[in-house]
Amino acid sequence: MTSIRETATAAFIEAYGDEPTGLWAAPGRVNLIGEHTDYNDGFVLPFALPQRTVAAVGPAPDGRWSVCSTLAPDPVTFGVTEPGEVTGWGAYVAGVVWALRDAGFEVPPVRIALASDVPLGSGLSSSAALESSVLTALIDLGGLDVPLERRPAIAQRAENVYVGAPTGILDQSASIRCLQGRALFLDCRSYRIEQIPFDLAAEGLAILVINSNAPHQHVDGEYGERRKSCEAAAAALGVPALRDVSTAELDDALRRLDDDVLRRRARHIITENQRVLDTVSLLRSGRVREIGPLLTASHASMRDDFEITVAQVDVAVQSALEAGAYGARMTGGGFGGCVLALIDADRAEATATAVAVAYEERGFTAPTSWVAVAGPGATAL
Ligand code: GLA
Repeated sequence: MTSIRETATAAFIEAYGDEPTGLWAAPGRVNLIGEHTDYNDGFVLPFALPQRTVAAVGPAPDGRWSVCSTLAPDPVTFGVTEPGEVTGWGAYVAGVVWALRDAGFEVPPVRIALASDVPLGSGLSSSAALESSVLTALIDLGGLDVPLERRPAIAQRAENVYVGAPTGILDQSASIRCLQGRALFLDCRSYRIEQIPFDLAAEGLAILVINSNAPHQHVDGEYGERRKSCEAAAAALGVPALRDVSTAELDDALRRLDDDVLRRRARHIITENQRVLDTVSLLRSGRVREIGPLLTASHASMRDDFEITVAQVDVAVQSALEAGAYGARMTGGGFGGCVLALIDADRAEATATAVAVAYEERGFTAPTSWVAVAGPGATAL
């Protein structure tokens, strides 16, 4: 089978007629727990997928930037731009160049060819994988002194300001900072991280990722709406962000919010932050199976309070649990995408089949399932 790195190299040669000078890779992610908490200054716990985007890169003699991919073989070429000038998928690359320059760095002009096996539009951060592979390549090739801890925010600005998507810092942090065999515990206010050992195989366990293959609908508008509701709830409670409300203060906070929608949005964020902290404590003490109920509670909170699930992901969670999973939840921004289930390692096939049967009974498009092992973050190859 041709590897992604060979595919990226071949795409480079095909588009530009010579060999790339180097290859860089950055992964997609699943978020174990902590959903929509990132833009509330809260906590998240992602791990990197083995699936990744590879950028084959070489210098650009014309002093401009060019990028193509296996999905769009004709290169998009641009010079120094401002947000809005490059649109479509090329904006993700132009955005990274812009954000690096805007942070004061001299960005080397390059030609790029991209190949990826991160499923697109499945809530596994294919866009962050793209941004992070390009960012890492530009930093290395330019010899730029950009500390690791600053990089996610630069990639996030590309997406927020240049592409115009109001996302938090979860995806770029995961793609850049995750380590093999670890889950990344990130405080999205201070950017403090802790690498939590996450070797499920040693416990006889596995994470099954189930792609619901549900069509993503209203994702952008609904995401922005959730963000606005959270900000409105924080403002009404007189705190900088919902992160500043603890579960001990929950009842009082809910009493002070007079809008039922805001109350439920706030309850999701406040309880979800606590579930991340509880999950981290259990993992630190090696009590991995016990995180199951927290995962399932997170799903119920996303379904009932944050209202970001769809029938396909609810059915996947329910049937995985009925098949014996310790816990299961949707992962990512929502409105489709993937579910993760914590299972005994020898139950992967049985669980995947149980979900597939439930989908068939309801007439849903068949799901795609695989066991995910925590892979490395962005790197030169
Ligand atoms: C998307 C966004 C992230 C985060 C998640 C939800 O993946 O890009 O910033 O908000 O949704 O946790």
